[in-house]
Amino acid sequence: MSTNTIKANRALHRFDGQSEVWLFGYGSLIWKADFEFIERRPARIEGWSRRFWQGSHDHRGTPEAPGRVATLIADPGAICTGMAYLISPEVFDHLDKREKNGYLRELVTIQFRDGDTAQGLAYIAGPDNEAFLGETTESDIARHIARAAGPSGFNRDYFQHLADALRELGEVDPHIAAIERELEKIG
Ligand code: BEZ
Repeated sequence: MSTNTIKANRALHRFDGQSEVWLFGYGSLIWKADFEFIERRPARIEGWSRRFWQGSHDHRGTPEAPGRVATLIADPGAICTGMAYLISPEVFDHLDKREKNGYLRELVTIQFRDGDTAQGLAYIAGPDNEAFLGETTESDIARHIARAAGPSGFNRDYFQHLADALRELGEVDPHIAAIERELEKIG
């Protein structure tokens, strides 16, 4: 199963005359910056929670056995921490292909650690996309992650990179910490 969002993302934003755009990363973009950027700064957005509720058929799973990866869920008052990148709009050609399985670029307000804010974009896979797996317990999520793998490698490695990157940033995400504890129990 696939829900290819490349065309939809191209149609969403035209970037007329813009030479720089902020992108907020909360998943693999935090630890896998395989694109050129002008500047990167730890940042957060309000009103969204990171959740391992999106299926991955193309990176950390397969169409027959999708993995579980991060998306953002609207959650008034919540804070999601991550990394913001200042990029040239052309970089979206690469990222739209990399994150084509259900993720659409949405406008978010990015808050930097020094209190500055900027408008930017984040890739969000909403509950209406075909690959969405939805809510379950962190224990179920850990068991799912422990067994999944796809063309980009083990689902567990994707999760661990993210957990380690958040630790390096000095950030605690209770959802990530709970999954990590469950994975440790699995061994
Ligand atoms: C992110 O790190 O923000 C991200 C990575 C992959 C898909 C969507 C978002």
